[in-house]
Amino acid sequence: MMKAKTWVIAKLFDGEPTESNFRLIEEEVPSPKQGEFVCEALYLSVSPYESSSSDKAPLGSALMGHQVSRVTDTKNSEYPVGTLIQCYSGWRSRSLINPKENPEALKLLKVPNLAGKEPSLALGVMGIPGVTAYRGLLEVCEPKAGDTVLVSGAAGAVGSVVGQIAKIKGCKVIGFGGSKEKCDWLKSLGFDHVFNYKEVNLDDALTSAAPNGVDCFFDSVGGEVSCRVLQHMNDLGRVCVSGAMSSYNYGDKQPLMPSPFHACLYKRLKIQGFSVSSCDARFEESRTQIFKWMNEDKVKYKEEVQEGFEKMPKAFLTALKGKVAGKIIVKV
Ligand SMILES: NC(=O)c1ccc[n+]([C@@H]2O[C@H](COP(=O)([O-])OP(=O)(O)OC[C@H]3O[C@@H](n4cnc5c(N)ncnc54)[C@H](OP(=O)(O)O)[C@@H]3O)[C@@H](O)[C@H]2O)c1
Repeated sequence: MMKAKTWVIAKLFDGEPTESNFRLIEEEVPSPKQGEFVCEALYLSVSPYESSSSDKAPLGSALMGHQVSRVTDTKNSEYPVGTLIQCYSGWRSRSLINPKENPEALKLLKVPNLAGKEPSLALGVMGIPGVTAYRGLLEVCEPKAGDTVLVSGAAGAVGSVVGQIAKIKGCKVIGFGGSKEKCDWLKSLGFDHVFNYKEVNLDDALTSAAPNGVDCFFDSVGGEVSCRVLQHMNDLGRVCVSGAMSSYNYGDKQPLMPSPFHACLYKRLKIQGFSVSSCDARFEESRTQIFKWMNEDKVKYKEEVQEGFEKMPKAFLTALKGKVAGKIIVKV
């Protein structure tokens, strides 16, 4: 029997959470039985969208999220001691895992060979955010060379990869970022036009950057800004609804938005929700391709690493405020 530290919900989220919503407890982790193993967290992901599941969880339950961890004790020959894995164990320093038990919920994968790069990449560009960007763009937006692609939340872990892959595919890429620092970074990644959507008149900005209209819109945000963008889409444009950052804090009390149906009808748009969970069969193939682009310097990434498991809530609140570009990671 070993001990683990776990962050749990001390107070239910009501709007934007604060540090008082979280409490650190100690849990006991049993020794592994046949088929099981114990792993220790090395890196944990904190993502704004994880709050959308946490605000529905009962008091005292563990905060959920992905982590990269190392197997330290095992009764499963497929996972010898030292194996690096990624899994959905939540904000836990140590977990007991049975790969056969509820494999869907565990989202268990081995970290691929990253040729000496930090395994934390499996939580960002080489993990769910990267694969979401790649598959969502290809499968829903179906970009063709010469298309104009617009990316909201462009400086995030997902959006930054979307824009770079759209450039690889020969598209013109426009990104929305929420600060000067984010916009500067996006320009350095090769985005053709970048706007701080909080400061510009969106219609003017899009008319000048996309005088011939937008063909593909990869949306992580939703709400009024996204409805505005639809007015600038071309006939038969494709919209990948990959996230809805503007609405996660509202829970069941979603505000009514301007209706997108007029633009959808008259421009014959395809607006399709996307979930990376439907891409399991192509996950490894997709990140192999992303890794190749990284090594060719065609896909770059940014990680903000905060040290210390006790910093989880602070890091999460930083992510929620959207001040940081790229992926926020906590290193244990
Ligand atoms: N579909 C899938 O399978 C899948 C998988 C993984 C993630 N996702 C989604 O992808 C989206 C982006 O994920 P990420 O990891 O790249 O996170 P992220 O970019 O760090 O997400 C947060 C960003 O959204 C932007 N944002 C715009 N309006 C906002 C608002 N009203 N409230 C809060 N944030 C706002 C902020 O950036 P700016 O201020 O710069 O705009 C903020 O930094 C999330 O919505 C997530 O749910 C989807």
